[in-house]
Amino acid sequence: MKVILVVGARPNYMKIAPVYFTLKSEQEFEPILIHTGQHYDNNLSEIFFNELGLPKPNIYLGVGSGMHGQQTARIMIEFEKVLFKENPDLVMVAGDVNSTIACALDSAKLHIPVAHLEAGLRSYDRQMPEEINRVLTDSISDILLTPSLDANENLKKEGITDDKIFFVGNAMIDSLRKYESLAEKSDVLDRLCLSKYKYGLITLHRPRNVDNKQNFEKIITTFEQIEKKIPLVFPIHPRSRKTIEKFSLKSRFDNMKNFILIEPVGYLDFLKLEKYAKLVLTDSGGIQEETTVFGVPCLTIRENTERPITISQGTNQLVGTDTQKIIKTTESILDGYCKRGTIPKFWDGKSAIRIVEVFKKCTNIRREKK
Ligand code: UD1
Ligand code: UDP
Repeated sequence: MKVILVVGARPNYMKIAPVYFTLKSEQEFEPILIHTGQHYDNNLSEIFFNELGLPKPNIYLGVGSGMHGQQTARIMIEFEKVLFKENPDLVMVAGDVNSTIACALDSAKLHIPVAHLEAGLRSYDRQMPEEINRVLTDSISDILLTPSLDANENLKKEGITDDKIFFVGNAMIDSLRKYESLAEKSDVLDRLCLSKYKYGLITLHRPRNVDNKQNFEKIITTFEQIEKKIPLVFPIHPRSRKTIEKFSLKSRFDNMKNFILIEPVGYLDFLKLEKYAKLVLTDSGGIQEETTVFGVPCLTIRENTERPITISQGTNQLVGTDTQKIIKTTESILDGYCKRGTIPKFWDGKSAIRIVEVFKKCTNIRREKK
């Protein structure tokens, strides 16, 4: 069974890697790795292949950046050629990025079965491009692999039948568990002169937070207050780096004495930074999940989340962009009042095994090749 696995952007690699390795270990499967090139900088792409031990992609589409329509269309044009060349039995896409919907749509139109990893998550906020990608990908997928039971419920509400929905848990946590001990060996804390549990970690890249000058300035004002209480480290996403330049905000970062602004770091360095942070301030999707597993307090700088289980069960709190709310919550964490969470069901490092079992069982979904 030839299975195409699609990666395109940073959060895809750690989700797809465990599935790739599990498929590779089974004789009946032939996994083919396709990189769309949505992310292409070394520290958003190649470094993850090296650290996760993934081979070079079988095919690299090299689509690069662009407006949503342009990027999605370019991926579709290039990926369709791959489908004709490879003639796969199944295509697996992950998450909610433009590469996800583009490749799923190509496959569905050619009647090639699609498996969606991380299906069913909903923020119910269609201002976010990811929500549109999620809803559309789920609606044309044949195998919906969910990370939590709330996702199953969301899918059922949208009329998706039970026979397509498989609760397999969180594949991203498979990677976290696998690479956790290697990450321990990272010297990133020494390099940045940070001590365990004595710094806050920031990531920020949502268009609503960083592409709007007023919103970004408000968030920077919050950081200016917090860095007086605890050092902050911010591996900055290229989107945010660009808008800092565009809005001439660099001097505000330079003027913060307790603030370390660095380029995005690799997976191992990031896991170490995350595990030993006193708190994490983020608008990332995956980081809400990883902090829940590490038991590290996470303040999500958004009004909503598609990952509510990280709030109901984990260490996540939605704080929006309200400066006073973020500062108050940070102060209570620094005073020792942390939310204690538990790890959600099936976030146990074994999701890829469950996923491959699903592929084996779904013989009825397998493509009948012409
Ligand atoms: C994308 C995903 C988002 C995900 C994020 C993970 C979509 C719609 N968005 O957002 O869901 O959370 O990745 O990091 O798919 N750039 C570089 N180098 C790169 C890649 C991008 O400099 O290697 C810059 C370009 O200026 C580009 C901008 O970053 O225009 C945004 O990149 P893009 O892939 O469009 O969206 P992200 O913000 O990265
Ligand atoms: N990550 C990383 N280096 C960084 C920032 C994040 O390795 O500098 C990892 C992080 O551990 C997680 C994933 O990238 O596994 C999350 O990706 P991102 O926040 O870009 O995307 P999202 O989850 O928001 O779609």
